[in-house]
Amino acid sequence: MTAKVYTIASGKGGAGKTTTTVNLGTSLAELGKKTLILDADIGMANLGLVLGLEKSEVTLHEVLAGTADVEDAIYDGPNGLKVLPSGISLQGFQNADPEKMIDVMGKLVEKYDYMLIDAPAGISKDGVVPLAIADDVILVVNPEISSLADALKIKVLVEMIDSTVMGVVLNRVGTTTTELSKQKVESLLDARILETVPDDTNVRNASAFRMPVVVKYPESPASISFKRLAASLAGVEMPVETEEVEKKEGFVDRLARALFGGI
Ligand SMILES: Nc1ncnc2c1ncn2[C@@H]1O[C@H](COP(=O)(O)OP(=O)(O)O)[C@@H](O)[C@H]1O
Ligand SMILES: [Mg+2]
Repeated sequence: MTAKVYTIASGKGGAGKTTTTVNLGTSLAELGKKTLILDADIGMANLGLVLGLEKSEVTLHEVLAGTADVEDAIYDGPNGLKVLPSGISLQGFQNADPEKMIDVMGKLVEKYDYMLIDAPAGISKDGVVPLAIADDVILVVNPEISSLADALKIKVLVEMIDSTVMGVVLNRVGTTTTELSKQKVESLLDARILETVPDDTNVRNASAFRMPVVVKYPESPASISFKRLAASLAGVEMPVETEEVEKKEGFVDRLARALFGGI
């Protein structure tokens, strides 16, 4: 087994990289795929924070500083997901050598079906390594022009280092009437939209419980999008969608009975 490595990147912070990494990872794990998520945002780590792992003593910082073994920095997440968080101390960040990431990945790649790397925002040295070691880069973009302009810079960088952008997760859709359409985003970025994720307050509510939205509120609109993305990457049917269809048919049946069946 050799893991498929996806790096989740965006031009600027706050687009939804960590949210996408955690929820896509949890959904792939739920599908029975051996999945590791890794926080390569070693300066502004928050993957551990979202999952309640911020007190972990051994993190990617220690591994990249050469003072800990990677296996000791991997923790259990939901559904059997494995999580490699980064530390939150500035000292730890200063001691970490981003180039060691390549060795770290080499040790892990045989053990998983999927590895998702939560990349730092912007263009920096610790940001380029995750883009370079990915099999494919997934860009997280919000439907607004500044997010798109920044994502375009990352796409150019990805292509400069001979990596590829697989496509785009268009996140936080549906907040304004002026937002860019899916078609516009696809044509401006010249990249395929893999999934659109609605702006959904359940995402933030789930964070307050230190849980991914797909676990805390599995039927919420954002959860359905993340699960559909996981199913499409893994090439499997999505169980939730079938339920939805059944629910809709149930409603139509009930309506037909009420109208014509004289209940
Ligand atoms: N689809 C969504 N709906 C509502 N809130 C979201 C959504 N995606 C992300 N958020 C919220 O936006 C903020 C930034 O998301 P985050 O994933 O941390 O971004 P990044 O990792 O790119 O900096 C978080 O508070 C998160 O809960
Ligand atoms: Mg983040």
